[in-house]
This record gives sequence, C-alpha cells and structure tokens, in this order.
Amino acid sequence: MRIVITGGAGFLGSMVTRALLERIDAGRAPLGATHVTSLDLATSPVADPRVTSVVGNLADPDVLAQALGHDTVGVYHLAAVLSGGSEQDFDLAMAVNVDATRALLERLRTNGQESGRPVRLVFTSSLAVFGGQMPEVVPEHWAEQPDSTYGALKAIGELLVNEYSRKGFLDGRICRLPTISVRPGKPNSAASSFASGILREPLNGIPAECPVPHETRMWLSSPRTAVANLVHAMDLSADQLSGWRGMNVPGICVTVQEMLDSLERVGGAQARALVTDAPDQRVMDIVCSWPGDFDVQRMLELGFVRDEDFDDVVRQYVSDHLR
Ligand SMILES: NC(=O)c1ccc[n+]([C@@H]2O[C@H](COP(=O)([O-])OP(=O)(O)OC[C@H]3O[C@@H](n4cnc5c(N)ncnc54)[C@H](O)[C@@H]3O)[C@@H](O)[C@H]2O)c1
Repeated sequence: MRIVITGGAGFLGSMVTRALLERIDAGRAPLGATHVTSLDLATSPVADPRVTSVVGNLADPDVLAQALGHDTVGVYHLAAVLSGGSEQDFDLAMAVNVDATRALLERLRTNGQESGRPVRLVFTSSLAVFGGQMPEVVPEHWAEQPDSTYGALKAIGELLVNEYSRKGFLDGRICRLPTISVRPGKPNSAASSFASGILREPLNGIPAECPVPHETRMWLSSPRTAVANLVHAMDLSADQLSGWRGMNVPGICVTVQEMLDSLERVGGAQARALVTDAPDQRVMDIVCSWPGDFDVQRMLELGFVRDEDFDDVVRQYVSDHLR
C-alpha cells in the first residue's frame, strides 16, 4: 500500500515523507501504507528503501501513470507554483495549479473506479483564497475572494477537489495551511518568504529585510505542526468531515512586530539588529490581503493542533537546525 506525494521533494513534501516513514515504523501508518512515492521535478532527498522517486512533470500523463498505481491508497497533492511565482507567470501557474491538478484528479478517479475504492487525497490550499474586506477573526465558512493569481488558482483547485469528493470519485480533504515559519534553507518564490527570512537569516548571522509594516498580522504555523496536521488530515475518516471538504488548518495570529520581539528574546539583540525595514509594494499587495486570524474551534475539536506561541516556534528552528 502506497502514499504518493506530488511535490514530494519540496520542503513540506520531504517532511511529510519522513513523518509517514516514522508512522510506518510505529505501525500506525495512515491507510495501512507501507511505501511512499515522491512525484516531483527533483529526486526526493529522503534516502530510504521504502521511498521511490518518480522524477517528472505532474502535467505529463505518462509521469502520472508511472507514479499512481493500483496500490495507491492515498495522495498528498503538494506540487504547485507558489504565490510569488504565480503572480509572475500566470500561464505556468495555470498549467500546474489548475490543468495538472485536474489531470491528477481524473487519474485518481479512474484508479478509484477500477479498484472500487475511492483514493484519499489531501490537497494543500492556502489562506490566499481569502481577500477583500474581512472581519478580525475569519469564521469557518467565509466566502473565498482571492486577491492574487495564487489564491484564485488554489480556490479553483479547492472547488475541483470538493466536487470530485461530492461525486464520490475520490475522498478529498482540503487543508488551507497557514504561512509556514520558520522554513529552513534558502528564500523561495512565495511572497511570504520574508516570514521565515526575518528570523532564519538573523539567527544565522545574516542581515534580512522586512518588506511589510510591523503591524501586519500573520497566520502562522511551525513546519512540525503543519506536517502533524497534514498527517492527521489523512487519518480522518470521511464521516468525520462535513460535506464541504475545505478546512482552515489551525495557526497562531502574530504581528510582524511580535515576530521580531520573539527573535530578540530567543536570538538576542544582535540578531534583532540584523533586520532592517525595506517596504516592498509587490509583497505588501499580496501578503497584506491575507487574513490574520481564524475561528478554528471545530478544527481543534477534530484533532488538529497549533503551536503554543511564536517564541516556541523560533526555538524549534534553533533546536532543529542550529544545534
Ligand atoms: N510553505 C508554506 O508556507 C505554505 C503555505 C500554504 C500552502 N502551501 C502549499 O503547500 C504545498 C507545498 O509547499 P512547499 O512550501 O513545500 O513548496 P516547495 O516549493 O518547497 O515544494 C513544491 C514542490 O513541487 C514541485 N513541483 C512544482 N511544479 C511541479 C510540477 N509541474 N511537477 C512536479 N513537481 C512540481 C517542486 O519541484 C517542489 O519540490 C504547495 O501546494 C503550497 O502551495 C505552503
């Protein structure tokens, strides 16, 4: 039994791969999975005999056929063009985030029909599906009104996953993830990349620029917590979910000023002094349109979790990557 991860070589994909291997070792793998396949443009960085890499483009039907066999019981669909990249290249974003997503869903529909068992799918969406005028705390069911190409295409993906689930073609779960911070490694093409950069860079002794006002509210999750929630989403049975499969995955509401205060408490005044303000309208237009807080009571009751506070998130980065 196999779980396939599109985008399996990426940041979250490789962490989900490791989390699934731990669950297999503990005899508690979602859906009784024993193996993991990564479908990505790059090879999975996880070297383990139970992990197979299918290297290729999600948009290529041969690659899909190679990755998705009849032993596929679950799929994480993580491969995507991210927020900054989507704003810069509309056609690429449409090709990957919409056309290839639909091709994947069709493939899973066929597989499910042939095996007589709908494949369970976890689709990573984003709070970028929201925009326009929003209340301080966004209720669970709030209309999507994206203000970016990325948000619009994630909203289309959500509707597709929901409709394929309603029709019984597959068993989908839509996880609208908070912004992940502190993300290790290098800056990426996400407009929210600074939400990690203003902590990661100074903690490594490197200067960083803050492109948004300090009062900007961010909805954040540590990588560990986000991955625990993605694994939990695969564990949930269909009867625990409502008809609408969209879920606002819990995060914590933190202003940029509070993030910088946490940096100072955990990393010291020297680290804080490495962050300077460099307002960037392109980043502000995207990130400042996102909501900063959500009502996630039902998600917590369903067993999803969130971080204690932002100091703890920064400490996690220090203990996972700097010690
Ligand atoms: N990290 C965050 O803060 C965050 C927040 C909300 C939602 N998400 C969503 O979570 C998912 C994973 O994000 P991430 O941070 O791990 O991104 P990432 O860029 O690290 O990983 C994405 C992976 O997808 C692969 N990919 C892209 N296009 C592909 C294609 N056409 N065919 C095959 N593979 C392709 C890339 O090679 C990359 O390895 C994405 O769907 C993203 O939109 C992330």
